[in-house]
Amino acid sequence: MPASILIGAQWGDEGKGRVADWLAADADVVARYAGGDNAGHTVVVQDKVYKLHLIPSGILHDHVMCVLGNGMVINPVNLVREIKGLEAEGVSVTPENLLISTRAHIISPAHTALDAASEAQRGADKIGTTLRGIGPAYMDKTGRSGLRIGQMQDIELFAEALHLQLRTTSDRLVKQGFAALNADDEVAIYIEAANFLRPFIADTSDYLNKRLKAGARVLCEGAQGTLLDVDHGDYPFVTSSSPTSGGALTGLGIGPLSVDEVVGVAKAFSTRVGSGPMPTELDGDIATRLRGTGENFWDEFGTTTGRPRRCGWLDAVVLRYAAAVNGFTEMVLTKLDILSGIDTLQIATAYQVGDRRYETNPSTMAEQERAQPIYESLPGWQEDLSGIRQWSALPEAARAYIDRVAALCDTPIRTVSVGPERDQLVHRN
Ligand code: IMP
Repeated sequence: MPASILIGAQWGDEGKGRVADWLAADADVVARYAGGDNAGHTVVVQDKVYKLHLIPSGILHDHVMCVLGNGMVINPVNLVREIKGLEAEGVSVTPENLLISTRAHIISPAHTALDAASEAQRGADKIGTTLRGIGPAYMDKTGRSGLRIGQMQDIELFAEALHLQLRTTSDRLVKQGFAALNADDEVAIYIEAANFLRPFIADTSDYLNKRLKAGARVLCEGAQGTLLDVDHGDYPFVTSSSPTSGGALTGLGIGPLSVDEVVGVAKAFSTRVGSGPMPTELDGDIATRLRGTGENFWDEFGTTTGRPRRCGWLDAVVLRYAAAVNGFTEMVLTKLDILSGIDTLQIATAYQVGDRRYETNPSTMAEQERAQPIYESLPGWQEDLSGIRQWSALPEAARAYIDRVAALCDTPIRTVSVGPERDQLVHRN
């Protein structure tokens, strides 16, 4: 059986974790291919809330092998913490259900310190990163000076290389007026993590290709979202990896012909955390209503950073662009229940930039910053959707909203979510 790729269609936080959890039920392997612990995937199983940052949502299924692919940047200390946290919740994590790529890159305290320093230096122009060291780790990777997970297999050499990286970065930071790093202490912490993780390390590209050849179904679990992609997103207000479908191939080391499904996950409205353009952003009552108070775990506050997310109307320009860039075969619309009780809903169908009309995302920051959304109004619905499990039981206005989004993006929508629980999904018959 071939591979499916699951991708965020907006700026991340679309609810990919819960969709991955659903698709993982039919998968043999679930593999993360990009990013690191900047991601925060929330999955709810029987009232228990799991917040995952590095480990794929497939870990909550007994039969699934989880893979952290070569395209990821991994903070080993945070990974050990996440594994131990899951173990404490009764979820067993062993080399029998988790493999880490030898080729994935390591995030060290040098990278987290550089991330913070870079954001401080940018001042008002900051990216609003998650401060997890993602950008600096990918810079070392492409600069060919990074440390890879496979190096943790030889502890002495690894300790030496890490010590050197920390000392050099520390000197650089001190020259710029930032605090020094304590290389000795940090290396000791990393050696402990490396010893813990060593049994999980493998050539995961080889593993995945063998499993694919033997007929396994592989789910490639994306993190972040299309508009955060380093090439296709709102550069420079992006992450430093490729969360789009091409990134799944390079980030796992599998070929394009093994993929038969590309599923886009879109939230029924727009949210963004961090800086950068967001044409349909709202303030006022509707934004507050979409965001929620923060009392519920599904309210729009960052899973990783706790930051309130910017909220706005659904942007079909973004979704149409994401469908094209990724080649979506279908989309799943999440959090439809949150729109209940709003009299009139708006969807951006195009942008006006000066005297030019855009049907797809403009390719320069100068145009993106000037983009004015052109809206289409649709009637809302009052009914609570959370208990609905049949497509035909959805209010007519909700079905019309879904169908309009699908038509605007020329992509079928067969599944929507109406709440965070595993069973709160409604499938078109
Ligand atoms: P970084 O990935 O920490 O470098 O952050 C770069 C940008 O991507 C910032 O705007 C972050 O808020 C955003 N970002 C990174 N990861 C996520 C995510 O998982 N969800 C939403 N936004 C994210």
